[in-house]
Amino acid sequence: MSSTTQAHSASLLDRITSGIAAAPSAQVAMTEAVRLLKEGLPHFTWAGIYLLDGDELVLGPYLGKPSPHTRIPLGRGICGAAATEKATIIVDDVNSDPRYLACSLETKSEIVVPIMRGDQVLGEIDIDSDRAAAFGATDRELLERVAEALAARL
Ligand code: SME
Repeated sequence: MSSTTQAHSASLLDRITSGIAAAPSAQVAMTEAVRLLKEGLPHFTWAGIYLLDGDELVLGPYLGKPSPHTRIPLGRGICGAAATEKATIIVDDVNSDPRYLACSLETKSEIVVPIMRGDQVLGEIDIDSDRAAAFGATDRELLERVAEALAARL
């Protein structure tokens, strides 16, 4: 199986949107979303949320190895590209993408999903996998729905 099944994804999405809605603060909502994503999906090796602060993405809640990239300028990395393009980016092989900023040597693939309010980027969900080409359409749909739910709390 190369990515999340639709049935698992639908029930996980329900739990995440409920957790986000019930959270007492935006910080708790983000922390809960990251926890449920990381625990629910074994191919999510690193899961985190960056928030846009001026021209930089600032690392918020995350689970996985500490990243050296706690502040990423908009023009840099796959994270910066997704925020600039205001679109989800999936990279099947990070080592062949010149934009990639390494977090862990084990990382093979990455998906970055912007958190938008209208045309404005609020932040993004960033997921790394130790498996090559780990992310498919089901992951993308799940994460885009989670991003919408988070946008309502930020
Ligand atoms: N790989 C990201 C940097 C963030 S770390 O993966 C957590 C990028 O290229 O923007």
